[in-house]
Amino acid sequence: MSVDLVVIGLGYVGLPLAQEAIRAGLTVAGLDVSPRVVEGLTAGRSHVDDLSDADIAQMRAGGFTATLDASIIEQAKTVVVCVPTPLTEEGGPDLGPVESAVIAIASHLQPGQLIVLESTTYPGTTEEVVRPVLEAGGLIAGRDFHLAFSPERIDPGNPVYGMKNTPKVVGGTTPGCTDMAADFYGKFVDTVVRAAGTREAEMAKLLENTYRHINIALVNEMARFCNELDIDLWDVINCAKSKPFGFQAFYPGPGVGGHCIPIDPNYLSYRVQAKLGYPFRFVELAQEINAGMPAYVVRRIQDILNDDGRALRGSTVLLLGVTYKPDIADQRESPAKPIAALLQDKGAHVIYHDPHVTDWTVRGESVERVVDLDAVLATADVSVLLQNHKAYDIDHIGAAARSLFDTRGVATGPRVVRL
Ligand SMILES: NC(=O)c1ccc[n+]([C@@H]2O[C@H](COP(=O)([O-])OP(=O)(O)OC[C@H]3O[C@@H](n4cnc5c(N)ncnc54)[C@H](O)[C@@H]3O)[C@@H](O)[C@H]2O)c1
Repeated sequence: MSVDLVVIGLGYVGLPLAQEAIRAGLTVAGLDVSPRVVEGLTAGRSHVDDLSDADIAQMRAGGFTATLDASIIEQAKTVVVCVPTPLTEEGGPDLGPVESAVIAIASHLQPGQLIVLESTTYPGTTEEVVRPVLEAGGLIAGRDFHLAFSPERIDPGNPVYGMKNTPKVVGGTTPGCTDMAADFYGKFVDTVVRAAGTREAEMAKLLENTYRHINIALVNEMARFCNELDIDLWDVINCAKSKPFGFQAFYPGPGVGGHCIPIDPNYLSYRVQAKLGYPFRFVELAQEINAGMPAYVVRRIQDILNDDGRALRGSTVLLLGVTYKPDIADQRESPAKPIAALLQDKGAHVIYHDPHVTDWTVRGESVERVVDLDAVLATADVSVLLQNHKAYDIDHIGAAARSLFDTRGVATGPRVVRL
């Protein structure tokens, strides 16, 4: 075995992992099924927000190679799986990428290897889906090779917490597997937390994301009635968060985005329903409230125009910030898309501005991009702040806009209406 680590799936999770392992002196190879990803990395181009082209150059100087050839797995001491875990069209877990990655590992599995799944998934996946495939060739987990689950906690764009200083939870098929995984991550992560087993490690990740999902839904629901009651919810949250214990601040917004918060809790509710036959009611309620936010935002835009004697049909609506979180280019599951689609359906002329997104399509159609923000702020019938990128001078936008609907609670001024 001539490579310390093979990372399978070179995306937002896999690449930072490879980078940190290389920094710690490990030899690392990356395996992906996308020729575009492999060619890009081989040519020195990064396709994720958190890594620059210079970072890729540094990784390559540290020996990193990217390949489409699964036989690289035979050379690895450790293999970590970071492939996507999306939802199917029916809303259930799509384990297709995990299954094909595991089939690739199984056909190259070597005695003594450590195999770790990092992709977010429902509890039981490592034991019930991954393990049988790996053991089909006769090698046994915990005896001939090591198997563990370790949830990825990466927060793209977070300037404080990265791979190294975010504690890593590991849970193995056997205590020996947990030890092997803890030793591996201990080489480049400051703190390793041992779970009782793979299921606990899988569930820990889902608890974290379900907690966020539910608390965001709580403030989103409060935003609706606080508006009716003429109460400034952002001020309420600011007051509540002065309590030094027992409260964590969450903020309302135009909906939840990214590929974790809107998706992961569904993995859990699907599992509870499929295995136990009853619903996970908190998740279902949170899902309903958060998924309803884009329509609520559109209704509020309509109200703003109405108060001004105008109709949404024929009005120009400028969307500011179309990514799912600030200061990154990632648009996955961003609520900006359903908002734009609903506005278009009602006859509005939708345009957008985003310093991180040069091309934006909604339902396959390109949306007009604003370059000269100042000129358009003054003429658009209503501007809508969806994402508060650092690049935005919010006081200036609040003052320059003909009318601003602020879904982030950051703008002030006579022409500003908050969510
Ligand atoms: N991005 C995050 O912030 C984040 C945070 C925590 C957890 N996660 C979880 O981590 C996992 C990976 O997410 P991501 O954001 O890195 O995804 P991503 O889409 O950025 O990258 C996944 C990569 O895997 C590749 N891939 C797909 N199937 C493959 C296969 N069978 N073999 C090899 N490569 C394959 C894709 O081509 C892609 O390059 C998901 O389960 C996600 O839920 C992501």
